[in-house]
Amino acid sequence: MLGVRFAIAIVLIASLCVASRLAAGAPVQPMVSAAGASVGLPLQDVASPPVPPIPSAAPPPYTIKGSVAEMDARLVVCDPNAPPVSGAGVTGIFAPESPPSREIRDLSYLVFAICIVIFVVVQGFLVVAIVRGIRARRLANRSENDSSPEPVQIYGSIPIEIAWTVIPSIIVFVLTMVTIRTLRDIDITTPPENSMEVVAIGHQWWWEFRYPGPDGEVVTANEMHVPVGRPIWLRLESADVIHSFWVPRLAGKMDLIPGHTNYTWFSADRKGIFLGQCAEYCGTQHAHMLIRVYADEPADFETWLDEQRKPAVVDASVDAGRRVFAEYACLNCHTIDGLSDGMFGPNLTHLASRNTIGSGFIPLDRDNLRAWIDDPNQLKPGCNMPSLKLDPPELDAVTDYLMTLH
Ligand code: CUA
Repeated sequence: MLGVRFAIAIVLIASLCVASRLAAGAPVQPMVSAAGASVGLPLQDVASPPVPPIPSAAPPPYTIKGSVAEMDARLVVCDPNAPPVSGAGVTGIFAPESPPSREIRDLSYLVFAICIVIFVVVQGFLVVAIVRGIRARRLANRSENDSSPEPVQIYGSIPIEIAWTVIPSIIVFVLTMVTIRTLRDIDITTPPENSMEVVAIGHQWWWEFRYPGPDGEVVTANEMHVPVGRPIWLRLESADVIHSFWVPRLAGKMDLIPGHTNYTWFSADRKGIFLGQCAEYCGTQHAHMLIRVYADEPADFETWLDEQRKPAVVDASVDAGRRVFAEYACLNCHTIDGLSDGMFGPNLTHLASRNTIGSGFIPLDRDNLRAWIDDPNQLKPGCNMPSLKLDPPELDAVTDYLMTLH
């Protein structure tokens, strides 16, 4: 029985492979499955015509200089206690660093444990049944009588009926109770004690973070700073479509819905960078809508907040770039305190204090920023920032200006 299922599974997988190759337009090679059956379509002898090269009227696409993972690795070297930022540990739900994510991890362990027990019991019964069936058939073959003996038939066994009704009911009851307890702790409706409110607004395809406060509101983008050990009460809003805030090591997912405000909370246990990702498909560049949470020591956080509250640096040596910014459409979409108040794109008042551009997937340096301003769609196809077709001197000037905005 198992062998037949195995063969059916292999034939199904092979057919799927053939179908996907057909859909991709590739010539079909006959494929021989492990079971020895040829499942491919007849090989077409006609060679496909050579594909003409695409005319290269457009300039070659920019390559991103450096990677965010390498950059993060360098940042972490400065802090040996920081959580790993490359490899599987980056966003692992099994490496929580905040109370809500810890509760989610514990619940996952319980669910996994119960599922493993169920799997072992069910598979154990299956193996016993197969072994006993094979043995019974062998015995029957050995005796002259070649008809296999009929297994004992059991009808309406009350103990068995009770067992497979009561045991699953208990499992479902336990899981329901534990889930309710977890939700009560993490899906709260009032801010935790001593919490700090931060507003996160989802945009296609970047994050806006606002820190309301009596000394004025601080606005930044994509890189969120929080103090270690203090609960963050996160107010979630959307400027366009549904997004989802997910920093696995800090908290579970919570949607950002247009016209509806959601809340979630977390509290980073220690200093470090915690990476996250928009977790609700929101359009072309959903995959490049990354979140970076920097958990700083409280004093460092206050310093950061004070810096962000300051107006933009005015450096006379980059006046030319400042003028380019103010004369072109840049100012319609971007705010630079004291120069422009566009709201459509990220606030650039302290752009150069960030480590990344493009919502966390391009390291911020002069070359990458210049390439980005020249044509953002080369680096992030589909993004809403157009190329303003600046000539090279203007491009250099505005890049140099933006690089001074610490
Ligand atoms: Cu925003 Cu996916």
